[in-house]
Amino acid sequence: FTVMALRSGSPIHFANLAASGQKFYFNGPPTSSYCPLNPSECPTGDETVFSSDYSATTLGLYVEVPGGQQVYIGPDGAMSFTQAHSAYIPENSTQIGWSRVEDSPNYGTLSFEGGLVACPVAGKGYQVFGLLPNIDYDPQCLGFTAATLNATEVGAWQYT
Ligand SMILES: *[C@@H]1O[C@H](CO)[C@@H](O)[C@H](O)[C@H]1NC(C)=O
Ligand SMILES: *[C@@H]1O[C@H](CO)[C@@H](O)[C@H](O)[C@H]1NC(C)=O
Repeated sequence: FTVMALRSGSPIHFANLAASGQKFYFNGPPTSSYCPLNPSECPTGDETVFSSDYSATTLGLYVEVPGGQQVYIGPDGAMSFTQAHSAYIPENSTQIGWSRVEDSPNYGTLSFEGGLVACPVAGKGYQVFGLLPNIDYDPQCLGFTAATLNATEVGAWQYT
């Protein structure tokens, strides 16, 4: 599935969530991906697609690279994803706490237990953070609803 922000009257309303540089953005860097295969065998790689066959409240990206790519909230709150071919996740990161409900046949809502916010970053639009206790977030951060749309095709070989 893909994710779109809903926050009416804000710059991120209807913005698509994009994976770039191991982080996630609205209205910032576009989806960044890599494919080592012949281009005709590569997924398009220009949309950020999450995997729907997750369990135990974790979240992953819908990729072809062996080992997959996991999503986590880093110790600084940043929503992040693992590099391809690596299971490395920084100490004190949070992998669990994700859930998704179906609102209608193709649409749903993704949630992180503490909540999600999008915070302005100079030149990079809005970066997504999970709310963790004991972290002070910029008062300019915006809460939003993470609307999901079912996707039928794998998003990328790997996101970068
Ligand atoms: C992880 O959290 C523990 C407990 O709060 C803390 O003692 C430790 O320094 C943290 N580690 C890092 C790398 O931040
Ligand atoms: C959308 O995805 C959800 C979760 O994977 C699935 O249960 C549902 O059947 C899908 N909807 C359609 C129309 O395929």
